[in-house]
Amino acid sequence: MKNGDLLEEAWQLLENSIVEYKGRPIGTLAAEDKSLSPLNYNQIFMRDFAVSAFAFLLDGRHEIVKNFLEVTVSLQSRVSQMDCFLPAKGTMPASFKVSHAAAGEKLIPDYGEKAIARVAPIDSVFWWLYILRAYVKKTNDWDYAHGDDCQQSIKSILELTLTNRFDMFPTMLVPDGSFMIDRRMGVYGYPLEIQSLFFTALLAAKELLIQNNDNKIYFENINRRLGHLVYHIRKYYWLDFKTLNQIYRFKIEEYKEHALNRFNIFPESIPSWVFNWLSDDDGYFAGNVGPSRMDFRFFTAGNLLMIINSLADKKQAGALLTLLQNREKELMGEMPLKICYPALTGKEWRLITGHDPKNTAWSYHNGGSWPSLIWYLAVASVKTGRTGHLGEMIELAERRLSRDNYPEYYDGIHNKLVGKEARRRQTWSIAGYIIAKTLLNEPQKSEILTFDESPEIQSCAENSCKELDY
Ligand code: GLC
Repeated sequence: MKNGDLLEEAWQLLENSIVEYKGRPIGTLAAEDKSLSPLNYNQIFMRDFAVSAFAFLLDGRHEIVKNFLEVTVSLQSRVSQMDCFLPAKGTMPASFKVSHAAAGEKLIPDYGEKAIARVAPIDSVFWWLYILRAYVKKTNDWDYAHGDDCQQSIKSILELTLTNRFDMFPTMLVPDGSFMIDRRMGVYGYPLEIQSLFFTALLAAKELLIQNNDNKIYFENINRRLGHLVYHIRKYYWLDFKTLNQIYRFKIEEYKEHALNRFNIFPESIPSWVFNWLSDDDGYFAGNVGPSRMDFRFFTAGNLLMIINSLADKKQAGALLTLLQNREKELMGEMPLKICYPALTGKEWRLITGHDPKNTAWSYHNGGSWPSLIWYLAVASVKTGRTGHLGEMIELAERRLSRDNYPEYYDGIHNKLVGKEARRRQTWSIAGYIIAKTLLNEPQKSEILTFDESPEIQSCAENSCKELDY
């Protein structure tokens, strides 16, 4: 098939995945594979729809995105409660479906109470804000964003996510499987992807919330938190040869305010592969940093989002893209892009995943390759002006995506195999490709998805550094 025809085919498939509610398009199915039991893949997932939404917006199709935003606002939990079986105020579901009963159509949300392993989707509210911001950037529909419904939703998300809990970090503490990686994979604690999405959502809220006296308290807290996050993540998550060498020589058990090894990371925990993985000219953000814990695995979505939202500084963004280039063989292989590197194997796999047969080494979340992630690479490359390799990446995907019927993921160390349990016609694989291809041809369109570094946040980060001196 010719490349233009491929794009047309992808659009047709995206079109076919649209779900209607009361005669209006409101979202897209996660996958349309009739050969496998649907489980919850026949629902509209918040995180999956974000990719469809961005594709629709780039193409000037706003209606479905606005409908989705409205429907999901109506599903947001509105009541503060102490009942553990009810969703907390401000939460949004992981997914929802339209049920067609005799009494009429109804929306049925899943906040994690039905999901496999009962995982709670911390990322749903973050994706909602990111979609709303992209929608407003594209359409200038400020009346909608400034309406009561959106303003209330934004405020309850801020109250939910900025509230103090049991730790003293600016990063957000979450259970395992609370985002795209929604199975046990040792991504509990302070995973990079959640922090990066949290930061994106706060930036979006800052743009979308009405500036008035009543909202002053929200703005003050957003700015402080953004500054703390910039300082904390740039400093404690960043890994290059310089920081690796510092960690390698860390003193431990420092009981004092200005400890260098603030989280009591044991140098023995540095895995040997890291020393070969890094080169002199590159670097990346660690997967997780918490008490006596640094997860050295490379997580693609979290890292690339750091470039898109400017949480990475310019030097870090450049080094990160260099790492993707230096490690092209491992991260792209025959199909971009690996979700994380390296895979957990043997005893580590048994202990960390709980013997999960779906997440064996180099499969699914454990080092599998997810074509949906190409959109992150496209946006990050365009934002930094480093599109040299983007065309090749897209061609690589084009060689197999259509032939294999747009699988959810690929397996194997070089991503050669269609994933063992991968759905075909996975919507975000289709939409991710559409975004990347569109941006390759019209890079200027990417600005609805990116955030520039703001001097105001930079100065909050400097204050954070002085204030906390850590
Ligand atoms: C799987 C993925 C999750 C995705 C869902 C629907 O559960 O891990 O990230 O949202 O499928 O595609």
